[in-house]
Amino acid sequence: MGTGESVDIRALSDLCTPWCVHVVATLRVAEHIAAGTTRIEELAAASGSSSDSLHRVLRHLVGKGVFEEPTPGRFALNEPARALLDPPARLALDLDALGGRMAHAWGSLLSAVRTGEPAYDEVFGRPFWEDLQAHPDIAASFDALMGPGHGTPDPEVLVTGGWESVRTVVDVGGGTGSLLAEVLRARPTLRGTLVDLPRTVARSGEVFRSAGVAERVTTLGQSFFDALPAGADLYLLKSVLGDWPDREATAILMRCGEAARPAGRVVVLNGVSPDGEGGPSPALLMMVLVGGRERSLKEFRQVARAAGLEVQAAERQPSGRFVVECRPIRRAAGIG
Ligand SMILES: C[S@@+](CC[C@H](N)C(=O)[O-])C[C@H]1O[C@@H](n2cnc3c(N)ncnc32)[C@H](O)[C@@H]1O
Repeated sequence: MGTGESVDIRALSDLCTPWCVHVVATLRVAEHIAAGTTRIEELAAASGSSSDSLHRVLRHLVGKGVFEEPTPGRFALNEPARALLDPPARLALDLDALGGRMAHAWGSLLSAVRTGEPAYDEVFGRPFWEDLQAHPDIAASFDALMGPGHGTPDPEVLVTGGWESVRTVVDVGGGTGSLLAEVLRARPTLRGTLVDLPRTVARSGEVFRSAGVAERVTTLGQSFFDALPAGADLYLLKSVLGDWPDREATAILMRCGEAARPAGRVVVLNGVSPDGEGGPSPALLMMVLVGGRERSLKEFRQVARAAGLEVQAAERQPSGRFVVECRPIRRAAGIG
């Protein structure tokens, strides 16, 4: 921890620069420049914006080290500006897509802190998941950011034992299937089931086809709060539990445990940190978007136990991901 002596509170609380970055990302200014449109009047015309206002925004950013203005009114990319050409980075900043939801949701932080409850609905009229349901275009950008946007997932998801005993895998809340596709691609004898909301599962076909695993996949468009397909060897929960408060996280784990009983395993990827390590800042974004939280391993053990699961192992993998493996708690003879 630093002493904070070098922290300038005005610079830290400046909202101007983050908004300017979001605006130029939304207007695709970096793409226009990369395509050869460099004069401010032409950039304004290409992006459908006011030349004077865009000029002021770009000059502010040049002053902050993003973009260059080699001659007055003509702009060029520099290294920081080139980062805006990266599709996932741009998607996360695009105010017309999910980036706008993430940016404006911070406006609900004060209410969230005062009440301890997410206040996303104060800004968007509905809770986050209902908002996605009501806006298919925003939901599509969410799925794109979650899946391809986060790069190719590491298929090494096991903590104890080898893959020999694993024949079937269910990816619960698996998005458009990028993790399951990699797991199946790495192990040609495995079969997999993708469970997610119907609109998201509907976007998984191409992911499985391009990985060459489509024949070994079943897709289920359903809620993970309902009964899950039973009897698989492995249930994966990647970047799911951190989206939910304890009550809902317990319910999801309970559904996994019921389906995995007696011999399956439940492996949780992301959303749990080793005891003593603070959760990273995306956990705060989860707080304002969905009321979710990063859990310490100790906190997670309690949630898992309430769901009928026992933590068997937990480790940081070479990719940096922290993985926790659980098994259903054995019931005493004569019960269940
Ligand atoms: C943060 S994303 C993680 C997706 C994927 N596991 C990954 O790591 O890329 C959370 C996922 O939970 C899904 N989800 C949210 N509510 C759900 C529900 N009630 N039933 C099933 N899936 C749900 C979302 O559609 C989304 O795909």
